[in-house]
Amino acid sequence: MGLFITLEGTEGVGKSTALQFVKEQLQQAGIPVLVTREPGGTLLAERIRALLLAREAEPMASMTELLLVFAARAQHLEQVIIPALQAGQWVLCDRFTDATYAYQGGGRGLPAADIAVLETLVQGNLRPDVTLWLDAPVELGLARAAARQELDRFELEKAVFFEKVRSEYARLAAEAPQRYRRIDAALDISGVQAQLQQVVATFPGLSQD
Ligand code: TMP
Repeated sequence: MGLFITLEGTEGVGKSTALQFVKEQLQQAGIPVLVTREPGGTLLAERIRALLLAREAEPMASMTELLLVFAARAQHLEQVIIPALQAGQWVLCDRFTDATYAYQGGGRGLPAADIAVLETLVQGNLRPDVTLWLDAPVELGLARAAARQELDRFELEKAVFFEKVRSEYARLAAEAPQRYRRIDAALDISGVQAQLQQVVATFPGLSQD
């Protein structure tokens, strides 16, 4: 089985740049890596993503949001993630189920126990091996995200929502210290990359010794 690496964080923390950097580090080490994202990663799952992000006149019920996120995940797992891992490929995924705990759980207030039921239903025992958590104060990320052209349905949320999302990531990180690697995303790009490089160096097959 390949290594399953996920990348998490609130809006505007520099996830895309970090993803690209980690991908390059792995490729330079000769490790075949598949880069994908959630919600999305397959044609159908990308359609579900569009539903989730669109700003519609009709508000989306939190339960609808939760089920759509897991519907996209089921598709993504079956079509992309599981076959890649089984073929020995590493998978680098931009967000995964921790984002569901953080956004639908922390942000929307759905019980973590309900999310855990769906997690087991959809994933069985599959969990990420490593989660890179880009963490920065919410105001900093929101200022960066606001500079983008058009805000999606999540980006329109207020700072208080993202504070709850961030606290939930902190809770998850404390609960799974073996899996979580916190990256201080308030630093400049070279500071973030230096931390990522240190973490990548600890991955199996990449240690210097
Ligand atoms: P992105 O902008 O990082 O690609 O993510 C799209 C949005 O989807 C982001 O605002 C977080 C949200 N999201 C959830 O609410 N729950 C989830 O399970 C996932 C994967 C993403």
